[in-house]
Amino acid sequence: MRRVAVCPGSFDPVTLGHLDIIRRASKLFDKVIVLISRNAGKSAPSFSAAERMLMIQSVTKDIDNVVIDILDGLLADYVERVGAIAIVKGLRAVSDFEYEFQMALANKKLYAGAETVFLTTTAENMYLSSSVVKQIAYFGGDISHFVPEVILEDIKQRLVKER
Ligand code: PNS
Repeated sequence: MRRVAVCPGSFDPVTLGHLDIIRRASKLFDKVIVLISRNAGKSAPSFSAAERMLMIQSVTKDIDNVVIDILDGLLADYVERVGAIAIVKGLRAVSDFEYEFQMALANKKLYAGAETVFLTTTAENMYLSSSVVKQIAYFGGDISHFVPEVILEDIKQRLVKER
């Protein structure tokens, strides 16, 4: 049986923290679907879903068992549709926990056939998030330690343009 996991997120933009979780998940499962999803609680994204897909494609192209997809709907429905057995999320600090716990319980209620699996972040990515990256880039700071090098220029150009 092929064990499929879904790794959902806004990825706006993808960071080294996301990439670390995707890479580690790819070692635990036969196939990992990185799912660009919409967080209805967040304001409009800085990058379109197609742009985020291209960025994730370029930073995961060396990982054979990773595919990328876009969802504008419920995660639980998608997980059921593709027959995934797990939803993989990264946990940074205790502050992530309550929100993630709530989502895990809601997703389990909506579809009981998959488990949410949390991978703890590495120490160097503890403080890292897409919004931190955007804040730093917006004010002209150095984001080279936070995002994969191949997409660094794309991200900088876009965020500078927005100013
Ligand atoms: O990177 P984020 O913003 O923390 O990711 C949150 C995301 C996109 C995974 C979450 O909002 C989600 O699963 N969205 C899809 C819609 C959905 O199923 N929402 C209910 C989750 S309980």
